[in-house]
Amino acid sequence: MSNDLDGAMCAHLSDQVENRQHQAAVMLETRHLSRRVGQRALVQDVSVQVAEGEILAVVGPSGAGKSSFLRLLNRLDEPTAGTVLLKAKDYRSIAAQELRQRIGMVMQTAYLFPGTVSANVAFGPRQRRQALAAAHIASLLERVGLPGFDNRDVGNLSGGEAQRVALARTLANAPEVLLLDEPTSALDEEAVRGIEELVLGIVQERRMACVIVTHNRAQAARLAGRTMVMEAGRLVAIGATREVLHDD
Ligand SMILES: Nc1ncnc2c1ncn2[C@@H]1O[C@H](COP(=O)(O)OP(=O)(O)OP(=O)(O)O)[C@@H](O)[C@H]1O
Ligand SMILES: [Mg+2]
Repeated sequence: MSNDLDGAMCAHLSDQVENRQHQAAVMLETRHLSRRVGQRALVQDVSVQVAEGEILAVVGPSGAGKSSFLRLLNRLDEPTAGTVLLKAKDYRSIAAQELRQRIGMVMQTAYLFPGTVSANVAFGPRQRRQALAAAHIASLLERVGLPGFDNRDVGNLSGGEAQRVALARTLANAPEVLLLDEPTSALDEEAVRGIEELVLGIVQERRMACVIVTHNRAQAARLAGRTMVMEAGRLVAIGATREVLHDD
């Protein structure tokens, strides 16, 4: 009886260990990632890994290369040395359209196209000649806290609402990696907290890897288990957010 119990306990424990290992699977990895423009080194030799379900914050002074780093992660800009691996595959061997679908990005201000909320959310799939069912659009909007917004004109949304639409539009592509460049810096405090809760929930639900650039250290502490600090294009510190941000 007790052996059976032990056996059951062991099986349960090994399940947990396996789960943990599974949780730790690396989704995105940079290897010596660098970009020079002329004489200027925007990003220098950054090697970092982000696991599925993990949020990594990127902080550092203005001009440190945070946005430049993020733009390299989905190949909006081209590395001049080093590379990025998506699920262990060099991203240069992945077609651009597929890469943009698998690595989604939300910027500081939502760049929405004139028209309805629905049309904006359906944009990515439509680019790939896929129609997004109205019910799917409705459920995405519900998930980002905008139920019934389907036919609203994007011209009269608040900043927070527009950012939620931008997030829904990115999620419509079912990305594996979510890149956020100061996604709340244009929003008021209440809208900021709303977006943070959404990001936390959705990254966990979808097991995405998420990299968020923020100048707000409190935000990094609220969202990210790990934080990397950039200065002059280089990664100068990385570790548990509490430790990294406590140091200075
Ligand atoms: N295409 C480019 N050509 C030359 N220099 C550039 C280019 N893009 C950015 N830079 C410069 O590279 C440096 C890093 O810029 P980046 O936008 O990545 O910084 P950042 O850390 O995001 O700053 P911020 O916090 O102000 O957003 C800056 O000095 C910027 O002027
Ligand atoms: Mg920036």
